Amino acid sequence: MSVNVEAEPDRHAADAETLIFANARQVVTCAGPARGRRGPEMADAAALSGVAVSVVQGVIAAIGPIDELRTTYRDAREVDCRGGVLMPGLVDSHTHGVFGRARSDEQELRAAGLDYMEIARRGGGIHASVRDLREQSEETLFELARRRLMRLAAFGTTTIEVKSGYGLSLDDELKTLRVIDRLRRELPVRIVATFLGAHEIPVEYRTSATARTAYIEIVVNDMIPIVARNGLARFADVFCETGVYTVDESRTILNAARRAGLLLKLHADELTSSGGAELAASLAATSADHLAAISDAGIAALARGSTVATLLPGTMLFLGKSARAPARRLIASGVPVALATDFNPGTSPTPNLPLILTLGVSQLHLSAAESVIAATVNGAAALGMADRIGQITPGFAADLALFDVDDLRDVPYWYGDNRCVATFVGGKPCHARDLGLC
Ligand code: NIG
Ligand code: FE
Repeated sequence: MSVNVEAEPDRHAADAETLIFANARQVVTCAGPARGRRGPEMADAAALSGVAVSVVQGVIAAIGPIDELRTTYRDAREVDCRGGVLMPGLVDSHTHGVFGRARSDEQELRAAGLDYMEIARRGGGIHASVRDLREQSEETLFELARRRLMRLAAFGTTTIEVKSGYGLSLDDELKTLRVIDRLRRELPVRIVATFLGAHEIPVEYRTSATARTAYIEIVVNDMIPIVARNGLARFADVFCETGVYTVDESRTILNAARRAGLLLKLHADELTSSGGAELAASLAATSADHLAAISDAGIAALARGSTVATLLPGTMLFLGKSARAPARRLIASGVPVALATDFNPGTSPTPNLPLILTLGVSQLHLSAAESVIAATVNGAAALGMADRIGQITPGFAADLALFDVDDLRDVPYWYGDNRCVATFVGGKPCHARDLGLC
């Protein structure tokens, strides 16, 4: 089985040629500290004009005037950016990218007045995707996920976190994680795996309190050790929510995950305020995600630590809910804020991370620069990778996205449109169009 992600050389950079990215109207470097950006740090995306970028062996080598780079890198091939905006490849730090069928039926039920949690109580929602995934072959799931994740890449995303969590049995969770591992090895984008065996209490364990405890014991005693031992995930996550996992249950599961060597994430305070943010902060989780219902105490708890607040405004929009995560208060309190799609079949089936930047501006009141930082540097921080990706800075991976726009503010402005014309991962072309996938 695969080895730990950390120990691997960057396969994306192997054989990458020396390149100069020339003729960009703007190079949005996001340069600065290699960690989650806080407060006023989020406001500066360091957009430069009149510069080119050189890449050697898949790594950013220099940023400077084109003539200087041409003199230094005489054998480089030039990539003509045609007056577009060159940015770090976007980092989508929260997706549930491996699933079977779509759940468009539920969207209509919600339009007719049924709530997301009510649909789940009736056996739909996550339970519907679980029944479905259990019947799908590994090969089918791989092929579905490959095509879907390349759709995400087509919008400028070069790193994608992918969670398990529609298996909810040892065999089906391992099946999902093997699919994610194969995506990680075979796709041109970077894939980061998260184990989410505690995405729901499976229906067959919802029969009594004893059965419920028995499932949590399976997660803790069977699933987590096997997942960690086989290097199948970098993170563990739990859906901590009224009616799903309690704060105490989430703590038990995440503590076991940490003991096994996994990093931590938490679906926290998505629909109700249940102390999820406080739990994530107390465990020094890498990220606390959703937070549309975070309490004042939750904001204060996150402000004291380094947990990234990953906000998913597409979810609230798609569910037709009016709650919004208090992004401005989080930023004012010094919490690093990331934006992600939450790509999943139930609550956010969009592959379009630039659209989430639009929602970051129009729904969460971020500036365009803050929304860009939230989906690059801070997305990287939400994956514990802010020392490698998310910036156009010498020494960082040459993960780049080129947008056919005039200014970084145009990326969230042309909402829903796909202005991404090329992406590179470790200096290699990876855009879905280059690969004939869209
Ligand atoms: O992040 N909230 C839990 N998980 C997903 C939804 C999963 C689903 O409905 O299939 C989310 O929104
Ligand atoms: Fe999610």
